[in-house]
Amino acid sequence: MIKRPRRLRQNRVLRKMVQETHVSKDGLIYPMFVCEGENVKEEIPSMEGQYRWSVDRMGEKLGQLQDAGVNSVMFFGIPDHKDSAGSGAYDPDGIVQRALRQAKKDFPEMYLITDVCMCEYTDHGHCGILCEHDGVRDVDNDKTLEMLARIAVSHAQAGADMVAPSDMMDGRVLAMRKALDEAGFTHIPIMSYAVKYASAFYGPFRDAADSAPQFGDRRTYQMDYHNRKEAIKEALSDIDEGADIIMVKPAMSYLDILEDVAEIVNVPVAAYSVSGEYAMVKAASDKGWIDGSRILAEMATAVFRAGASIYLTYFAEEIAGLIDRGEI
Ligand code: PBG
Repeated sequence: MIKRPRRLRQNRVLRKMVQETHVSKDGLIYPMFVCEGENVKEEIPSMEGQYRWSVDRMGEKLGQLQDAGVNSVMFFGIPDHKDSAGSGAYDPDGIVQRALRQAKKDFPEMYLITDVCMCEYTDHGHCGILCEHDGVRDVDNDKTLEMLARIAVSHAQAGADMVAPSDMMDGRVLAMRKALDEAGFTHIPIMSYAVKYASAFYGPFRDAADSAPQFGDRRTYQMDYHNRKEAIKEALSDIDEGADIIMVKPAMSYLDILEDVAEIVNVPVAAYSVSGEYAMVKAASDKGWIDGSRILAEMATAVFRAGASIYLTYFAEEIAGLIDRGEI
């Protein structure tokens, strides 16, 4: 035999030497839920180990993240008040806006990203303003654009370093880019959830954010998971509209999509390992059925191997620990 692949697997130093994919803390973003109230650290039942934090206590988590070397977070707001227009989302004293101001003050080194969407703020749980055609209710794309643009600007005004629209309305990136530029925020990047599938993997998140749609589902705006070419269409049109970073979501069951997108675009690509992925790993590892740390090392590596350079994950701190210990 001339070729013996095992030659390069003989010991750890050699294996590390020839390792093709490296997971870096620099690409990690931790999604974090901030809520109204005081002294709140409330565990999310379907996401054990994840919490809703009030603004006065979120510093505990931000401090831990920073100590672990995770320097970016993405805020999701859980407001007390919801209405049909989701007006809490652009309230200058809204939950995300207050979290941003506090975090900027106490953790000036942290990079603060916000999820821009309306589903946490609307009483019907959809990601936009509703309309009705022939008795069928749906989300009105163009009316929603104005709201999204307004939300993005209010986040930037409160101190967001980057905004990330997750609503899946057509044309939202352009609408936001224009509004941000007009308000003087030409320097604020947009990370678009460009390739976001209608997925049951978001189930635990909707518990966490109390954002499940009250009727119907999100299939008239989020993508159909049977489709692959459509991912390219979404990614390219968002780049044309000014997206600086393109996200693929969920991650684990969509690595083929991630690879396609990463191959074609010339912007950084992010992957979001969503709440359902977290919950599955957590539950199975709590039962002792899988080795959670090793599984999440594989999941994270797969995302970078497929072409992402940014990884949003509720396991960000654990992954940082794995990197420190050389276990990933
Ligand atoms: C808001 C939003 C969702 C997620 C991120 N932003 C929920 C949804 O679209 O229903 C999901 C995140 C997760 O499951 O971890 N639109």
